[in-house]
Amino acid sequence: MELSSNLMGISLKNPLILSSGPMSRSGEMMIKALKAGASAVVTETIINEIRPNVRPRIINRGEGLQNIRLYSEFSLEEWEREIGIVKEHGGVVIANILAHSPSEMAFLARTVEKYGVDALELGVSSPHGEGLSIQGCDPLNLYKMVKAVVESVNIPVMVKLSPSVNNLAALADAVERAGAKGISAINTVRSILGVNIDEMTPLLPTYGGYSGEPIRPIGLGAVATICQTVDLSVSGIGGISRFSHLLEYLMLGADTCQLQSALILHGFSLIREILDELQSWMEEKKFSSLGDIRGKALNHLKSFDEIVLEPKIASGLQDCPLPRCTLCSDSCTYNALEKNEKDLVEINRELCTGCGLCISICPRDCFSMAWNG
Ligand SMILES: Cc1cc2nc3c(=O)[nH]c(=O)nc-3n(C[C@H](O)[C@H](O)[C@H](O)COP(=O)(O)O)c2cc1C
Repeated sequence: MELSSNLMGISLKNPLILSSGPMSRSGEMMIKALKAGASAVVTETIINEIRPNVRPRIINRGEGLQNIRLYSEFSLEEWEREIGIVKEHGGVVIANILAHSPSEMAFLARTVEKYGVDALELGVSSPHGEGLSIQGCDPLNLYKMVKAVVESVNIPVMVKLSPSVNNLAALADAVERAGAKGISAINTVRSILGVNIDEMTPLLPTYGGYSGEPIRPIGLGAVATICQTVDLSVSGIGGISRFSHLLEYLMLGADTCQLQSALILHGFSLIREILDELQSWMEEKKFSSLGDIRGKALNHLKSFDEIVLEPKIASGLQDCPLPRCTLCSDSCTYNALEKNEKDLVEINRELCTGCGLCISICPRDCFSMAWNG
């Protein structure tokens, strides 16, 4: 059974990559990820002029994180040593670089290529720097940036896109036309995590990037759009903390996946857990390689107009196994479900319009859809 994957022509032993962030802030950290089983690592964002990080800069609520962290504190020159450490260890290193103009980006690209990185990831999508508003949203600017880099180096170039745009398909198309070999998505989501209502202040003093479990649906949507638009190597990112999350991205067309927040919250050992569970699932389902599952769900993704209207309504167990639970009847906006005092659920076939909400609301999976008639 094979977990081997391909990233822009680079063979990887599995699809799990450490994404750019504090867990990849140094050679030492990246080696920890590789030892835990990651097939490749993406450096924390490398820039030309380093700035000290603000304090505090990361907050957590539930499974979500918000950060206003601004890139690596190592200088470009210092990264030669950090990258060298990982290359000596035999690891696959992708340099995440960020610049403000095509020529500056090309300069950074040529420099880290000399340091020995295997590929590049262009940071044009940070929600807290200038990248997103200036380069990451505009297809023409993005095209120029990517083309300048592609023409300057001999290693494959991947571009990291943001979900905080309304023209993702056009941006992906610009990346492909400019000659990049891959797209990674998503970067963090521009956000304000909350407000301290006693102090009447935002929890962090500026807009930040939201990451972790809650952004996975946004990442999945972005990856599907990208895979439907371009024929590039796609690396899915956002909210991965279990093997099933990784499978969701692969089934929507991703070739590899990256993660960061779950490792910040739970440590590098999570990588081995995810890979072991993935391996067991593949064996149980008798799949011989990831090629057997890649893109399978994407094939079922329809445009809204293609969906056939079927006259289905809710159908379900009448005898509810959960006494006093009224989740289904409380949330039925069409008043079609009623739970009587004997805990029997009655479905009014006249009122039910087949919205389907009761199916996911019920904690005991009592409902399904059935033909009305
Ligand atoms: C604290 C923190 C710092 C990050 N720093 C960077 C960065 O320097 N460059 C970058 O491209 N992405 C950065 N990211 C974004 C992640 O690489 C990733 O795209 C995003 O967090 C979504 O994945 P996740 O839900 O697995 O964290 C950072 C994320 C976090 C949580």
